[in-house]
Amino acid sequence: MDISTTYLGLTLPSPVIAGSSGLTGSVDKITAFARHGAGAVVLKSIFEEEIYFEQEDIIKEAEAEGVNLDQFDYYDFHLKGQKLDHYIELIKGAKQAVDIPVIASINCVYSHEWTAFAHQIEGAGADALELNMFFLPSDFERTAREQEDAYFEIIEKITASVSIPVALKISYYFSNLGPMIQRLSRTGVAGLVLFNRFFSPDIDIETFKVKPSFVFSTPAELALSLRWIGIMARKVDCDLVASTGVHDGAALIKELLAGAKAVQTVSSLYQKGPGHIETMIADLKAWMQRHEFASLYDFRGQMSQEAASNPAIYERVQFMRYFGGEADVT
Ligand SMILES: Cc1cc2nc3c(=O)[nH]c(=O)nc-3n(C[C@H](O)[C@H](O)[C@H](O)COP(=O)(O)O)c2cc1C
Repeated sequence: MDISTTYLGLTLPSPVIAGSSGLTGSVDKITAFARHGAGAVVLKSIFEEEIYFEQEDIIKEAEAEGVNLDQFDYYDFHLKGQKLDHYIELIKGAKQAVDIPVIASINCVYSHEWTAFAHQIEGAGADALELNMFFLPSDFERTAREQEDAYFEIIEKITASVSIPVALKISYYFSNLGPMIQRLSRTGVAGLVLFNRFFSPDIDIETFKVKPSFVFSTPAELALSLRWIGIMARKVDCDLVASTGVHDGAALIKELLAGAKAVQTVSSLYQKGPGHIETMIADLKAWMQRHEFASLYDFRGQMSQEAASNPAIYERVQFMRYFGGEADVT
């Protein structure tokens, strides 16, 4: 039985990708994911903000100590160098340790510096680059158009500066999601990851404090990416990969049926460890055997919106049948 897939022009031995997180910031853990059957790994993102925040702390400390801030350019250069060097080492270490594709990840807000860095990532041997890009649409001075243009500008600069394939991991916060996904798929990116899941605020009703909400997803969160993979599978010019809420073999199978080339999973690996990849793959294989599929190509996209016998259900949004009061919601 062949469970290999292609993604970003790369061959993956399995469709389960260990997604970007703290877990993929260590060569040991990456090695464990590969050993347990991961098809690829996406390294922890290097964050533009992370570099700037660290820099701000040092400047504040320096000011408090009366340090001459004329040296600031040096700090700037030195700090970025340290973070970036560390990341380059991670790429090289991971490439040496595993045979599966290693996808680097950068979180970029502005395009200017990252183009040079993307080039360094390529030089370090990364097989592909995932751009983790998100602007929370809460800037009241910025129009939706300006917000969207920022994505295209960054993608254009980065795809022009590297020859490895580039994937874009997006959120669902766009004013016109379907057409936006389609336009993004035509920019030269080789893949789109639907969707990222973000840090969110919660409120503690006893202490009256705003606190972080749950870090991990639940299986119910699969619904969002499943709908959009299904709707977009045959409307895009690049690969689609599902992310958020993929916790088990059934979720993996659903996303493949909807048209995904692979899935990324993170919360399930934090909660169940790297061996969980093997369980997901075993469940996929058992299901394929039951349905007499020899490879993923035999069924991928079979339940996408275009291919499904009841395509309208992908666009249904109201629970009309359940409004009667006595409805059976099972
Ligand atoms: C602790 C933690 C760290 C994460 N770090 C990153 C990161 O560095 N870059 C990124 O693109 N996504 C990051 N993510 C988001 C995950 O890659 C993923 O998109 C999200 O958790 C949804 O997938 P899941 O439902 O399988 O957890 C992180 C998630 C968690 C829980």
